[in-house]
Amino acid sequence: MTVKKSSPDRVPDRVSSLPPYIPGKPIEEVERELGFTPIKLASNENPLGPSPKAIEAVARYLAQSHRYPDAAGTYLREKLAARHSVEMNHIVLGAGSTELIQLLCHVYLEPGRAGLTSQGTFVMFPLAVRAAGGQALEVPLQDYAYDLDALAGRLDDTVRVVYLANPNNPTGTLFTATAFDRFLARIPESVLVILDEAYCDYVERPDYSRSLDLVRSGRYLMVLRTFSKAHGLAGLRVGYGIAHPEIISALNKIRSPFNVSSLAMVAAQAALDDTEHIRRSVESNRRGLAFFARELPRLGLRTIPSAANFVYCETGRAAKEDFKALLQMGVIVRPMGFMGLPAGLRITVGTEEENQRVIEALAKLQQSAAASAGRERSRA
Ligand SMILES: Cc1ncc(COP(=O)(O)O)c(C=O)c1O
Repeated sequence: MTVKKSSPDRVPDRVSSLPPYIPGKPIEEVERELGFTPIKLASNENPLGPSPKAIEAVARYLAQSHRYPDAAGTYLREKLAARHSVEMNHIVLGAGSTELIQLLCHVYLEPGRAGLTSQGTFVMFPLAVRAAGGQALEVPLQDYAYDLDALAGRLDDTVRVVYLANPNNPTGTLFTATAFDRFLARIPESVLVILDEAYCDYVERPDYSRSLDLVRSGRYLMVLRTFSKAHGLAGLRVGYGIAHPEIISALNKIRSPFNVSSLAMVAAQAALDDTEHIRRSVESNRRGLAFFARELPRLGLRTIPSAANFVYCETGRAAKEDFKALLQMGVIVRPMGFMGLPAGLRITVGTEEENQRVIEALAKLQQSAAASAGRERSRA
């Protein structure tokens, strides 16, 4: 049977109008095309791999995989509650923090309501807003960072959710706890603020965040965290939210009861205890960030200080073309057009060897761009 061409009656416009999320190619496919092993620094994963304690825990638990997970996520939530000094009713688990972003939009938005964020930020939020039937509003970045004044100034009666990633993906910029306090003072409690702290483990600044104090004090706020970054568990899909209990109970009404797998939960519990793995990951990242901060400007690339596990840079050419050229050299990075920054490349901090390889590839790219610019000039 053939299905007739798309009909607006079947897939509603709020979904059919969405651009599809185009993921990076699987590394195995790129390897087959190139004939050699590329390095993948495209998705802000941990280059040191998963926490070894998490790997052991998963291996031990695998034989229990015929059982459904604990729908309440009791043990992991208990551990997180103790870690963050909150009651368990302040914590919800998600299949990655992106699932929680989607669920939050489904709870708080509908046609006639809007979700507000900045341009040049994590694309899953505006997509989730639109998928929920809401209107996605954005204000421009200022010097590659959130313009918190402009965001607060953009509020109107339709805005019900505001999303901020701190540090921001893809620019790696950060706002301080004091700046956030000033921002929150301008936001009515009828608006849900989502503060996405996916990269918090990498931030080493004392003025960074007091988000959990705000939740403890009863502020209507959702703080998102994930095990995908410093804990190295991106493939297992587990993240969590710490929030006002009303927000948690609303999410619990619509989330699928078994949204997080048992293996993800046992891995996350073990990873939380693996302070050594976190310490090594953060230290390795710190060295990598310093290396890129030194080497990228040497190649004539524009970059900005990053507080996360990736760096944002611009070559002055279209990032999409640079991405293709780097791919041919076996280096997979991410052009940022899909997040509204078509001039930008985002490079995940890798191991020392991987970082060196990216810089060598970028140096070749710069040389060949300079050579072709020279040829253009002599022809003119
Ligand atoms: C700001 C931000 N939030 C959330 C995520 C996704 O995390 P998860 O793997 O927990 O869904 C990412 C991933 O790149 C991110 O950059």
